[in-house]
Amino acid sequence: MRLFLAPMEGLADALMRELLTRVGGYDLCVTEFVRVTDTLLPERTFLRLSPELENGGKTSSGVPVRVQLLGNDPAALSENAAKVAELGAPGVDLNFGCPAPTVNRHRGGAVLLEEPEVIRAIVGAVRRAVPADVPVTAKMRLGLNDTGRALECAQAIEAAGADELIVHARTKVDAYRHPARWEWLARVREAVTIPMVANGDVWLPEDWGRIREASGCDDVMLGRGAVTRPDLARRIRGGEAMDWDELHPLLRDYYAGVRARTEPRHAPGRLKLWLGMLKDAYPEAGALYQRVRGERDAEAVARLLDAM
Ligand SMILES: Cc1cc2nc3c(=O)[nH]c(=O)nc-3n(C[C@H](O)[C@H](O)[C@H](O)COP(=O)(O)O)c2cc1C
Repeated sequence: MRLFLAPMEGLADALMRELLTRVGGYDLCVTEFVRVTDTLLPERTFLRLSPELENGGKTSSGVPVRVQLLGNDPAALSENAAKVAELGAPGVDLNFGCPAPTVNRHRGGAVLLEEPEVIRAIVGAVRRAVPADVPVTAKMRLGLNDTGRALECAQAIEAAGADELIVHARTKVDAYRHPARWEWLARVREAVTIPMVANGDVWLPEDWGRIREASGCDDVMLGRGAVTRPDLARRIRGGEAMDWDELHPLLRDYYAGVRARTEPRHAPGRLKLWLGMLKDAYPEAGALYQRVRGERDAEAVARLLDAM
């Protein structure tokens, strides 16, 4: 069984991947999506999205990071995928699930779930462009407005030669609502023979057992739950729960990393976002959140964080 860290734009960036894989339990990560239109993106775009490429495509703890591409043009996607492979990515993942209006307006992400033949052309072209030893995978939602074409999409992905399929158990219209439709994961799994990874609404170690049972999938991808409980993967593997004494230095490392990478005015927001997600599991994070909430000065936030 494998545990994947989900791609999460604006949340699971390289810094977050670095910290969460250091905590342990993960077998694989996927980058935030990079949008491909009709050109070959410069190398620096891929290195910014996945600085892990300069470390053999792995986080410092040795966890491989697949690069995710999003778009609708098979030729452009395959050219960019070949580049990503040449840069040493341990896999290329294709996004057929993004619900963002700007992305969908440009016929990318979830809207393609209405066009399985386009999905098939994209996956096929990318598979042909990438060396055989580099996995090409696809991540899909169950559909745009309903699940009517979910099986067709999954089968198109398989027929086009994808090595693995990741299914987020929601339609685009479902957004991120609870509960995810785990029963549909089992239906999709029965419709394909390639390995399938189940995703959606795994918040606690118990949920991991439940989604595996409901879906029949061995492998699970953790999304928001990985951020709200940084020890989730480790606990699933029977490891130690994380207490505040372990989380606090992690938060300090995170904020130091954020400050090194972002403008001072944006840094506090990133920390507040994570604290807001941690506060249910960690009362200390909630208390800190209250203290930093109104503070916009990056240095003052660092002092409050250190003083916890
Ligand atoms: C803030 C955020 C950003 C996301 N960005 C991406 C992305 O770039 N690519 C992608 O395939 N999925 C993206 N997703 C979807 C997640 O990978 C995952 O499928 C979804 O959160 C469901 O899992 P969960 O219920 O465990 O969170 C994003 C989700 C969130 C919450």
